[in-house]
This record gives sequence, structure tokens and C-alpha cells, in this order.
Amino acid sequence: MIKKFLMTPGPTQVPPQVLSAMARPIIHHRTGEYSELFARVNENLKYVYQTENDVLSFASSGTGAMESAVINLCSPGDRVLVAACGKFGERWRDLAAAYGLDAEYHEYEYGQPVDPDDIARSLEADPHIKVVFVTHSETSTGVVNDMQAIGAAVEDHDAVLVTDSISGMGSAEIRTDAWQVDVVVAGSQKALMIPPGLAFVSVSDKAWALAEKARLPRFYFDWLKARKGLQQAQPTTAFTPAVSLMVGLDAALGLIREEGLENLFRRHIVMGRACRAAIKGMGLELFSPDDDSSSSVTAVRLPEGIEDGRLRSLTRDRFGVQFAGGQGPVKGKIIRIGHCGYYNYTDIIVAIAALELALKELGHPVELGSGIKAAELIFGEETV
Ligand SMILES: Cc1ncc(COP(=O)(O)O)c(C=O)c1O
Repeated sequence: MIKKFLMTPGPTQVPPQVLSAMARPIIHHRTGEYSELFARVNENLKYVYQTENDVLSFASSGTGAMESAVINLCSPGDRVLVAACGKFGERWRDLAAAYGLDAEYHEYEYGQPVDPDDIARSLEADPHIKVVFVTHSETSTGVVNDMQAIGAAVEDHDAVLVTDSISGMGSAEIRTDAWQVDVVVAGSQKALMIPPGLAFVSVSDKAWALAEKARLPRFYFDWLKARKGLQQAQPTTAFTPAVSLMVGLDAALGLIREEGLENLFRRHIVMGRACRAAIKGMGLELFSPDDDSSSSVTAVRLPEGIEDGRLRSLTRDRFGVQFAGGQGPVKGKIIRIGHCGYYNYTDIIVAIAALELALKELGHPVELGSGIKAAELIFGEETV
């Protein structure tokens, strides 16, 4: 019998309270009962987002909400800026290309963050840039970009700042309003602790002003339609919502409210610290930054002679622990341990034990218990 532990940065483990809420009989979405739930979910999303802006929900994966930002903010041929430091930053570039936008593209090496000064310089030099697209938590490398500094770089310009916080929302703090981030995209299957299938987007007044003028074609992902639904006395959605996922989200957001944002972010920081200490303790090298910004994902360089596929199959098939591999230029060179969402002491210990055992079996000279001990030392000092 194998007991499965999902340690990937999406999808992530789902709390039993959420699973049992989603198993309840389906309710109809054009009812007071659903509107009440939807209103509560919207308020609680604003709490996690730390915003007074509208937060729109779509039944789609995270990329759907990213695409919604492009089509609701841009007109054909618009000048935009994309700053990418990994696989998901490249998705903004690909979306801009798919819609024929004129993109200035800043590319940073995998493992490096976006430099906010580069964004400031580009906006100074080119006042025609309408939208800046950047990733908050770059899941492919574990780098978390400094959205406060990027927000400050954009704030005095007409450009609207859009960020993908699909793996950051609820694990790497983003203060949407305080940091002047106009549009923040999130997804359900990471720190929001529900299965894949929902995506969210917050929209500031500055972004609404642009959306009202933007001319790229849109239908399902039309923000104006979504806002109209939110503004009803009994809030609703333009199209049939993913009812069971929304019921799960209601339960998950209830858990987040109960824990409180301060504790939530602190728990993630401690899990990141323990994971990094364990990796170094077993003699491996980190790929993600060795600081508290890496609270969602720990990326680890594969030691010489260890093959990614064999290592991850072994941890999964023998010990039930699923890690993620590298993407793009770091495919086969790193593995990624996800700890965004429903993760605590035991998950880290189990993940590290599986990694030690699998490495040992593959012939890597690892001392069993060395990583676990390092994680335990962190947990001994840092209660969450
Ligand atoms: C930062 C980031 N952006 C975008 C995506 C794509 O989201 P989805 O696969 O839900 O469309 C992911 C998923 O891993 C992600 O982590």
C-alpha cells in the first residue's frame, strides 16, 4: 500500500475539510444559497489578496485568467512590456505574441529575479507602454519577484501593472493595494488549497479604466460581464460557475481566515526555511534563492550522476512522494519541492526522508537523517 504525498507546486494537497465540502450535493447557482456563498467567497478572496478591488472568478486554469488580463486590457498592436525570469514569465510573452501585441521583452536568466529598475527605465523611455506583465512567484525556479519595488516603478506612469501570482497568492505575500499592483492573477490549485479549475483576477480602478477602452475581442473572459454579475443585489456569474469548486474554495478560505494572514505567511516561511536547511544538511545545493522569499517552492540542483526521471519515479513509486521536475533550460537539472498551501511539519519530514532514501538507493553518498535533522532543528526553534 502506497500513501501518496503530493509535494508539487500545483496541484497541491487538499485539506479533508475542503474535500468533504466538495462532496456535498450540488446546489443550483441561480439561488440565494449560491449567491450568499459567492458573496462570502468574494469577500474572503479580497482578504487574501489584501485588496478593496473587485476579484473576478473564472472556471478555468490559471492561464485562462492570464489570458483574460491580456484581452481585457489591450487593443490590437498595443505596446506592452513583459519581464520574464522563467517558464511562466515566458507565458506572458507567448500570450502577447498570440494577440499580436508589440512587446518589449526583458529576459532574465532562470534563477534570477526581475530587476525593477529595468522596468522603471523602460517606462521612462517609452510612455506608450500600456501594460507591464510580470510574474510574482516564478514557480519554475522558486524566485519571487519584488512586487513592492515593481509596483513603485510603475505607479507614476500610465501603464497598468499585471502580475501572475498563481503560485504566490496565499503563500508568498502580495499586498495588492499597498504595493499598487493593478491586476493580480491567482489559481485554485496552489496555496488556495483546492483542486485545479478556478482562476481569479483582481482589477484596480486604473485597470478598469483601461479595460473600458480596450478593443481586443473577448467573450467568456469579459471582465465587464463578470463585474456586472458581482454588482447584482444577489451576486452571480455570467456563466455557470464551477459550483463544487466554489464550495471547496469557501471551505478553504474559511481555513485561511481561521489561521489569519500573519500566521499563514509565517507558516510558509518556516516550511521554506526547514526545506532549505534540509537540502543543505544532506549536502545538496539549492537552485532557488536561499532566503525567506522562497516560501512556496524549494528548487534543488540534481547532484552529478543522478537522473531526474529515475529519482522522481523512485520517490513517487516507492515512497509515494511526488516532486516536480525542472522546466525549460533547467529541465533534468533541478527538482522542485512545493510547499504552498496545506503543508506543515510532517509533510516536509516525509518529503525529505523520501529524497534521502531515493538518493541513497541511486548511489549518491547521502547520510540518512542528515536532512531530516536539519529540518527538525528549524522546527525546534520555529513553532507555527
Ligand atoms: C506562476 C504560474 N503561472 C502560470 C501557471 C499556469 O497555470 P495553469 O496551469 O493553472 O493554467 C502556473 C502553473 O503551474 C504557475 O505556477
